[in-house]
Amino acid sequence: MQNDQTGHGFDHILRVVKNASYILEHESQPADPMITLTAAYLHDIADDKLVADPQQSEQQLQQFLTKIGFSAEQNKQILLITHNMSFSKSLEKPISLPFCGQIVQDADRLDAIGAIGIVRAVYYGGAHQETIYDPAIAPRSEFSKAEYRDLTHETIINHFYEKLLKLAKMMNTATAKQLAHQRQQFMLNFLAEFQTEWQGKK
Ligand code: ADP
Ligand code: NI
Repeated sequence: MQNDQTGHGFDHILRVVKNASYILEHESQPADPMITLTAAYLHDIADDKLVADPQQSEQQLQQFLTKIGFSAEQNKQILLITHNMSFSKSLEKPISLPFCGQIVQDADRLDAIGAIGIVRAVYYGGAHQETIYDPAIAPRSEFSKAEYRDLTHETIINHFYEKLLKLAKMMNTATAKQLAHQRQQFMLNFLAEFQTEWQGKK
């Protein structure tokens, strides 16, 4: 994560871990903190948009977990979460995650919205040579994972309509839903202000 230039650096990981611990503390349903926080720390290690060979990265992850003393069962639980929690995965093969996984998914999604979410989207868009905005390109409403990853006609502003504004409603836990509310409002205000300035209104 150290050399990441797309908004998935170690600072992202630390925020996701913090979000996950906050959710763990505030949910009445219990979840195993060791599984939840380990999955939060390692959730991007084998992500197919970040590493060249995700399968190999998953194998290394399993070997690492075994080496530091995780059981085969814990290993399986962590891998199930990290393998299935991403937004792009849900476009391809949605599965229902165990509660620990739902927490990590919410924690990751919280870091994709609000002020941090805006900066990360702009940073990612810059790293991938996306256009900032083009009113002639409408946001896509339905897409496969391959189409989602095809950035030929993607704009940074459209990414808000295609993904980021949908996340608040997709949160699993009541705690994350509550946190998402203010962040959603902040993005909506940002987009309204962006339009005002783009159109040259004063
Ligand atoms: P996941 O890891 O859940 O599949 P994504 O790969 O969709 O999530 O995105 C992770 C983060 O990267 C997003 O929250 C956003 O900040 C950024 N991102 C992904 N795709 C785009 C895009 N087309 N334009 C701008 N930012 C993007
Ligand atoms: Ni992440």
